[in-house]
Amino acid sequence: MGTDGADMTDVPLFSETMAPRLLLVLLCSTLLGPGATGACPALCRCYPRRAEVVCAGVPLTEFPSAGLPADTTMLTIQHTNISAISELQLSATPLLEGLHLYGNHLRSLSPDVLRGVPRLHTLDLTGNRLADLPAGVFGHAHALTTLVLKNNLLEAAEAEWFPDHSSLTWLDLSGNRLTGLPAALLHKLPHLESLDLSHNRLEKIQAKSLDALVKLERLNLQRNKLVRLEPALFHHTANITNLYLTSNRLEALPPSMFRGLGRLRVLGLEENQLGYLPPGLLDQLSSLDEEGLDLTANPWSCDQKVEYLWRWLQKNKGKAFLADTVRCAAPLPLAGRPLLSLTESELNLES
Ligand SMILES: *[C@@H]1O[C@H](CO)[C@@H](O)[C@H](O)[C@H]1NC(C)=O
Ligand SMILES: *[C@@H]1O[C@H](CO)[C@@H](O)[C@H](O)[C@H]1NC(C)=O
Repeated sequence: MGTDGADMTDVPLFSETMAPRLLLVLLCSTLLGPGATGACPALCRCYPRRAEVVCAGVPLTEFPSAGLPADTTMLTIQHTNISAISELQLSATPLLEGLHLYGNHLRSLSPDVLRGVPRLHTLDLTGNRLADLPAGVFGHAHALTTLVLKNNLLEAAEAEWFPDHSSLTWLDLSGNRLTGLPAALLHKLPHLESLDLSHNRLEKIQAKSLDALVKLERLNLQRNKLVRLEPALFHHTANITNLYLTSNRLEALPPSMFRGLGRLRVLGLEENQLGYLPPGLLDQLSSLDEEGLDLTANPWSCDQKVEYLWRWLQKNKGKAFLADTVRCAAPLPLAGRPLLSLTESELNLES
């Protein structure tokens, strides 16, 4: 096998398995001129053997239509100055499966932008300037499983973006300006396995929001403004293995919060405002990894009410990340002391 992309003017290999439809597409594009076989857009690299085109870090200001091979399945336009992309431009590559648009200047998408690419399974829009999206924008993308909207300017996420029963398994909305998330949106995503909502401004996750996510394995809520959580929020998400609640403003957790999370391996609770954990909270977390639970950087109150956590740490020292650095913030005489170092009498447990 020759090295992919070594020769940019390589003609794509025609194999016997090539679908008739693809041949038709190629024939048409040959007849129509631009996009002819063997061509490659200016400033881009084409890898005909794997039907991939990459335009990265080049001074493009418009979608590179001219010369784009019609059989392209993977298209990367990264760190350029393109600010728009249209249905017409995309429909010139009807076999597209992966579209990576990382770090461009996209400000909006049209509702039909994906209509001409029915096989698209991965769409990465990280690091653009999208402030909102139109209703129905992912309604044409029936094969879409991975959607990354990380680091944009989204202030709201709308249920109307998605079709009912979407096939998405991976949704990344991190690094936006979301203050809430409609429960109806997540109800449309029953196949979701990974949901990243970190680095937003979420103050609340509505009760029952997650109830449809029975396949969810990873949930990242890190760096939001959550003050409290609904007691039954995770009661239907029994498949979660990784749950990150790090760097929020949680002051207390409901006692039955983690009930049923028997597969949970990693739980991040560090950098919150927790003074106690309610008795029983961690009892059902039988699958925690070694050092899987992070409780550091919380203002633990080392009085009688901290007894549950104190006893749990003694029994499960290996499960807590840096267990010796889980420290008291109060009362004053104990401030800074590792919780694990305290005696029963210091905690006033002998009565
Ligand atoms: C994008 O445009 C800016 C000016 O608007 C320019 O400084 C920069 O070099 C351009 N980047 C590319 C990749 O063309
Ligand atoms: C939960 O995860 C296991 C292991 O990955 C998988 O076999 C099972 O189908 C999942 N359950 C649901 C409801 O998806």
